[in-house]
Amino acid sequence: MNYLVTGAAGFIGSVLAKRLIDEGHKVVTVDNLSTGIKENIPEGVTFIEGNTYDSKIIEKLNDYKFDAIYHIAGQSGGVTCWDDPIYDMNSNITSTLMLLDYAVKTDCKTFVYASSMSVYGDENPCPVREGDSIKPKTFYAVGKLASEHYMRIYSENYGIKCTALRFNNVYGPGQNMENLKQGMVSIFLAYAIKDKHIPVLGAKNRYRDFVYIDDTVDACIMAANGKEKDLFNVYTTATNRKTTCEQLIEIIKSNLPFDITVEYKGSTKGDQFGIFCSYEKIYNALGWEPKVSLEEGMKIMTEWAICNI
Ligand SMILES: NC(=O)c1ccc[n+]([C@@H]2O[C@H](COP(=O)([O-])OP(=O)(O)OC[C@H]3O[C@@H](n4cnc5c(N)ncnc54)[C@H](O)[C@@H]3O)[C@@H](O)[C@H]2O)c1
Repeated sequence: MNYLVTGAAGFIGSVLAKRLIDEGHKVVTVDNLSTGIKENIPEGVTFIEGNTYDSKIIEKLNDYKFDAIYHIAGQSGGVTCWDDPIYDMNSNITSTLMLLDYAVKTDCKTFVYASSMSVYGDENPCPVREGDSIKPKTFYAVGKLASEHYMRIYSENYGIKCTALRFNNVYGPGQNMENLKQGMVSIFLAYAIKDKHIPVLGAKNRYRDFVYIDDTVDACIMAANGKEKDLFNVYTTATNRKTTCEQLIEIIKSNLPFDITVEYKGSTKGDQFGIFCSYEKIYNALGWEPKVSLEEGMKIMTEWAICNI
């Protein structure tokens, strides 16, 4: 099969592209190398460098015909979105719209999108479910939500099967350990290994739901292959488990052969205080469930990070 995986120079896109290549498929990627690196792109993937919202780049895709599009590229930081909201909008909204338009024109019937649990904001009791209140707190989350609505409308009017996966915090080997603005696990672990000191922005009792990279990639593939009766679907990938910052740091400490210090100070604009989510909907629809525990995943990631920092 032929796939477009946008963002294969980044964390999730590269692991997804590698899985598809290993399964014998052909993969093309578009990436602007803003937060991704060229070396991450798996061997065998055709690389087109540029912005997913650039019409000249989309034109280059006319040379291909895809069975499915995995739109994973995007301005991926809730923090970074404040620096350049227009770039954030183009990367997270315009790009989705242009790729949906491209899908219609090339008769590609399957579209999977990397949305985010950030669309929920802080309104709901946990575990949060797909039908709960939606109140984005950042431009980033607005972009993810807007993309979901474009997908719904394209599904309804052009018969494309569109699935939005609202990822919770994804972690694992391959995460960018240099980017200290994105990814709670990679930020804490990078500080712990490099400085033996973690400066945490925010309170120790803030909490998240951490999903291992391989489980996240499983969800992407199952979403593209899903046979649901509805053409438009939204699922949250989650573990239904609450982990506070303090608990995550205890797990990090337990895997390191040296002591570290921790300092809690300040806060991050627009950050959700705490969220963990139910995975009942995606389990019932696609049979997806998380397989790797946080303890197990952090052990694997720490071993990888120590060798890669
Ligand atoms: N990692 C998480 O915990 C998480 C959680 C929720 C949602 N997501 C979403 O999943 C996707 C992948 O996240 P990730 O953790 O792999 O991030 P990442 O930053 O490692 O990967 C994103 C990739 O997209 C590329 N990119 C960004 N803007 C682009 C543009 N306009 N045109 C072309 N390429 C562009 C980057 O260079 C990078 O290679 C993102 O859309 C992100 O918002 C991630």
